[in-house]
Amino acid sequence: MSAKKEKKANIAVLISGGGTNLQAILDAEKAGALHSGSVKLVISNRKRAYGLERAKNAGVKAVAVTRKDCGSQEAFEAELIRLLDEAKTDLIVLAGWLAILSENFTRHYEKRIINIHPALIPSFCGEGFYGLKVHEAALAKGVKVSGATVHYVNEIPDGGEIIAQKAVRVYPGDTPEKLQLRIMKQAEWKLLPKAAEQICSEIVAGKHPGFQED
Ligand code: GRF
Repeated sequence: MSAKKEKKANIAVLISGGGTNLQAILDAEKAGALHSGSVKLVISNRKRAYGLERAKNAGVKAVAVTRKDCGSQEAFEAELIRLLDEAKTDLIVLAGWLAILSENFTRHYEKRIINIHPALIPSFCGEGFYGLKVHEAALAKGVKVSGATVHYVNEIPDGGEIIAQKAVRVYPGDTPEKLQLRIMKQAEWKLLPKAAEQICSEIVAGKHPGFQED
C-alpha cells in the first residue's frame, strides 16, 4: 500500500539579501519540521542576492525581478504576480524583502503574505526600520529585551496582524551587528519556519482565513 501522499501548500519566498531566513525555511523543510508546505519559488528584487544561490543549491527555482528591469512599480508587481500564480503559490514569505509592495498587491494576496521583522512590534517598526537600523534604534533606546515578530502583511509597513513573537536579551556592550545575529539565531530562524508550518497546515486543512471560499 503506497503511503498516502501528504497534500502540501506551495510556498514562495521573497528575498533581497543574504537569505539566512530563507535558509532556515529550506533547512526546516529538509528536516521535516516544515512538512505541510514546500518552497517552490524564490524571488529576489536584487540580482546579486546570495539568497538566490541558497535557493539554487536547494534545487528551488530562483528568479531575480528588479523594479528597474520592469520599468514601473505596476509592471514590477505584475511580474511578481505572474511568477507567483505560475507557481500556484499558496503562501508568500517575505524574508529580508526590502522592496515596496502596493496595497493592490497586498490586497490581491490578503492574509497570504507573512513577514519576519527583527523587533518586537510595535517597537522599532514601520517606515525606515529595516536591517541594522532596527537594532541601532533598539540599542539607542536602551531596551533590555528585543526580539523578532512574524506578522501578516497589509498596506501598512509592519502593520499586519501579529502571528508570533520571540523575545531576545540585549546585553551591555552589544553592537547592532551582535544583536542582529543573536535575534536571527534565537528568534527569526526559529519563528519563521514554525509560522510557515502552522499556516500551511491550516491551508491544507482548508481552515485558513485567506482561503475561505466566498
Ligand atoms: C535581517 O536584518 C533580518 O533581521 C531581516 O532581514 C535582514 C536580512 O535577512 N529579517 P536575511 O539574512 O536576508 O534572511
